[in-house]
Amino acid sequence: MNHRRHRIATIPGDGIGHEVIEAGQEVLEAAARKFGFSLNWTEFDWSCDRFQNTGQMMPEDGIDLVREYDAIYLGAVGWPTVPDHVSLWGLLIPLRRELDLYANVRPVKLFEGVKCPLADRKPEDIDFVVVRENVEGEYSKIGGRLYEGTPQEAANQVAMFTRHGTDRIMEVAFDLAKRRRKHVTSATKSNGIVHTMPFWDERFKAATARHAGVETAAYHIDILAAHFVLHPDWFDVVVASNLFGDILSDLGPAVAGSIGIAPSANLNPARKTPSMFEPVHGSAPDIAGKGIANPAAAIWAGAMMLEHLGETQAAEAVINAMATTLAQNETRTADLGGTEDTRQSVAAVLAAL
Ligand code: NAI
Ligand code: MG
Repeated sequence: MNHRRHRIATIPGDGIGHEVIEAGQEVLEAAARKFGFSLNWTEFDWSCDRFQNTGQMMPEDGIDLVREYDAIYLGAVGWPTVPDHVSLWGLLIPLRRELDLYANVRPVKLFEGVKCPLADRKPEDIDFVVVRENVEGEYSKIGGRLYEGTPQEAANQVAMFTRHGTDRIMEVAFDLAKRRRKHVTSATKSNGIVHTMPFWDERFKAATARHAGVETAAYHIDILAAHFVLHPDWFDVVVASNLFGDILSDLGPAVAGSIGIAPSANLNPARKTPSMFEPVHGSAPDIAGKGIANPAAAIWAGAMMLEHLGETQAAEAVINAMATTLAQNETRTADLGGTEDTRQSVAAVLAAL
């Protein structure tokens, strides 16, 4: 039998990105040994540090350098020394766009032992996935500023929704729902945003017609945010535009207990380019360097990467090991009310694995 090898580009980035990626690599290495495959890692130093030294977050040919890998494992990008829009648009957004990683898939799950900020909610109540459109929509460079610094100063920004882009994100959501509880909720705002959102609703209806057997619901984003808090049990797969999906995918993990757990997959479902896996959280300057970051989000993102690479058993084992450590106070990190630091938490996951 051929030994399976996966080539991974790692971009630890900034702050706790380094701490959690190192932690994740240790766990994924152990899973690879256990399940008989190997991971070959190549690290890229693209970050705000690099920006300070060279004036660029990544080299000119950066995208081509990572294109050859099977997947990308990214920590977090952003540091107080560089404006956030400069670091984001200098690294994360070009990776997502130029590699056409158009589906951002963010699972939300309440784990046993994790304190839920919502009263009386049990793990079976919170288990859904936010599917966020990742390359167009409200996050567009179209627009500009006029008369800067004067009383007439003006700014505008154009949202871009294409049929191609909208239809394909709907497909990802419906396909995913078919492998889960067969329900898709659409995040809209067609009452207030009168061009793009009625278009979004039409494309959602068209997708619904293509996928018999999947139940659907649609809510305006404002009440949908409220339902995330009041009725998280209503949701299986939630499909949303770039901006709405961004907001919902922070709100979701918050109702499930901690941003330190939430993972994110930036997928090219056609597998023409390497997909990218990262925690939802950022570089956490307030705790960076202290060795106390919760590695769970990076570990779970790593498990999603294994799943994408076809290592399904290893992926499940990693998630189960993580769930075991989250269930006990002695093996939880401080953000979850536990006593462990990053290293101790990793040791506990390794032991469970
Ligand atoms: P953040 O996620 O870095 O931190 C928010 C809060 O959550 C902080 O109190 C932090 O200590 C805590 N936290 C985050 N991850 C944690 C973990 N693994 N364990 C324990 N506690 C954790 O968000 P913030 O402060 O808004 O952004 C900081 C920097 O990160 C900014 O430069 C921002 O642009 C960048 N950022 C990057 C993202 C990415 O690379 N995908 C996502 C979000 C922010
Ligand atoms: Mg966000």
